[in-house]
Amino acid sequence: MTGTRGIHHIGVAVHDVAAAVERYALLVGATVDHEAVVDEQGVHAVALRAGDGPLIELLAPTGDDTPVGRFLAKRGEGMHHVAYEVDDLRAHLERLRAEGVELIDAEPRNGLFGMQVAFIHPEAAFGCLVELVQPKEHA
Ligand code: CO
Repeated sequence: MTGTRGIHHIGVAVHDVAAAVERYALLVGATVDHEAVVDEQGVHAVALRAGDGPLIELLAPTGDDTPVGRFLAKRGEGMHHVAYEVDDLRAHLERLRAEGVELIDAEPRNGLFGMQVAFIHPEAAFGCLVELVQPKEHA
């Protein structure tokens, strides 16, 4: 088993990032850690820090015809994915693929905030969309 460092962030799909930032500040004292608009992924993302725990990744679509836009149309706002940090994403994916796990991303790709990421299919994780991330500081 390659190293896993626990939950890195929780992804939450929202319509209005600014409103969500304000609400999470009220609810749990969360502060903005970083923010990015990534047109190629169709997402406006804000990572919030709330104490020492995992980050909260707010995701708003930049348009209706985007992954998060389609998610919101189908499911509404709410929990989108759980991201786990791994030491060696490529090796981790190879091991899962060898075990026949259904992956959305067979190879690491560029994710938000400079991370290498890959998504695992929800059917392989009991209905949860799971993201594996390898932050660049130990890529
Ligand atoms: Co994420």
